[in-house]
Amino acid sequence: MATHRFDPNFTENVISAMGPKTSPRLRQLMTGLIQHVHDFARENELTVDEWMAGVKMLNWAGQMSDDKRNEGQLVCDVIGLESLVDEITFKLADEAKDAPTATAILGPFFRADTPYRENGADIVVTKPKDGEMAYMHGQVVDFETKKPLTGATVEVWQASTNGLYEQQDDDQVEFNLRGKFKTDADGRYYFYCLRPTPYPVPDDGPAGKMLELMDRHPFRPAHIHIIATYDGYRPLTTQIFDRKDKYLDNDSVFAVKDSLVVDFVERKDDPQAGLELKYDVKLVKDEATNGV
Ligand code: BEZ
Ligand code: FE
Repeated sequence: MATHRFDPNFTENVISAMGPKTSPRLRQLMTGLIQHVHDFARENELTVDEWMAGVKMLNWAGQMSDDKRNEGQLVCDVIGLESLVDEITFKLADEAKDAPTATAILGPFFRADTPYRENGADIVVTKPKDGEMAYMHGQVVDFETKKPLTGATVEVWQASTNGLYEQQDDDQVEFNLRGKFKTDADGRYYFYCLRPTPYPVPDDGPAGKMLELMDRHPFRPAHIHIIATYDGYRPLTTQIFDRKDKYLDNDSVFAVKDSLVVDFVERKDDPQAGLELKYDVKLVKDEATNGV
């Protein structure tokens, strides 16, 4: 029984218009989407002008997107959808003390063509005028056995101190502040990077407009992105966050998890870096995930 004052059969008519060739999963997703979107419109008595403003926002996002900019993803990010889907998909990686490394969203600035670098390399190829250098290192281990994984890939990327990733900034050389590393015989990776700094997500498009309309700031807390992979293990996409950052409790895309907050400590006797960050990654064997 409909509890609203609009056509009680309307939504059911739209849902049942799907034909028999629709796959079961698509039918489930479209049924839920249509039901929720219709309920949203009815509950809020959405006006034509308001709906059209939403349509314009979507079109604007599409027009702004290209291979260097993913505005549709950014719109999802500022309403928390990528972080929610991450939580749903990877709920095994919880925040318990002895848990596999927790996941976090990929974000729109990942580049699939990032090159490998040698362990010990400096990913800060274009040096910013400010910023602090850090030596980041750690071990990739099997979550169950704690044994090191030799030959695992650790990929990292970070924004520069001006708040821009290299593909957003003509003044940075290509692949600046990015690299893929292979773990050594002890499962270790190590390289030099910047202590990350907070930055605003691009706010000159519809995602920025939505933030402004919702009276929210665009900043993300300082973080480094990591993807760790090893054959037979579940790939890990995550981010680590600097404990000292002022946006830790206020991330514009809601990606912070307690277990991903890290401490940079002083590093002595290294002319290349005054800070150090140790970060071990615990990967889960594929079969241990029950196919989730
Ligand atoms: C990022 O961390 O790179 C990011 C994530 C979501 C939206 C914008 C940027
Ligand atoms: Fe980022």
